[in-house]
Amino acid sequence: PFELVLARSGLTLRVPAERSALQVMLEAGVPVLSSCEQGVCGSCLTRVVEGRPQHRDQYLTPEEQAAGDQFLPCCSRAEGPRLVVDA
Ligand code: FES
Repeated sequence: PFELVLARSGLTLRVPAERSALQVMLEAGVPVLSSCEQGVCGSCLTRVVEGRPQHRDQYLTPEEQAAGDQFLPCCSRAEGPRLVVDA
């Protein structure tokens, strides 16, 4: 589990192990585009403001993943206890 802070919405959400960050965001009423929900299409791409994402997608290049300033909440998670994103 990790804490997902939505900087623009002013929300702090808990993402449990069995749910995706995207599911948790949508349930909270946060508008995020999504389509494949498998880390392939890039629709849900979200900017990371603070913290390190743990990438599990197949959309970003290795360089983009290493930069750590964006992630795909349908499948990727947080490397630490907290991730702050622009949503
Ligand atoms: Fe397709 Fe997230 S919904 S990459």
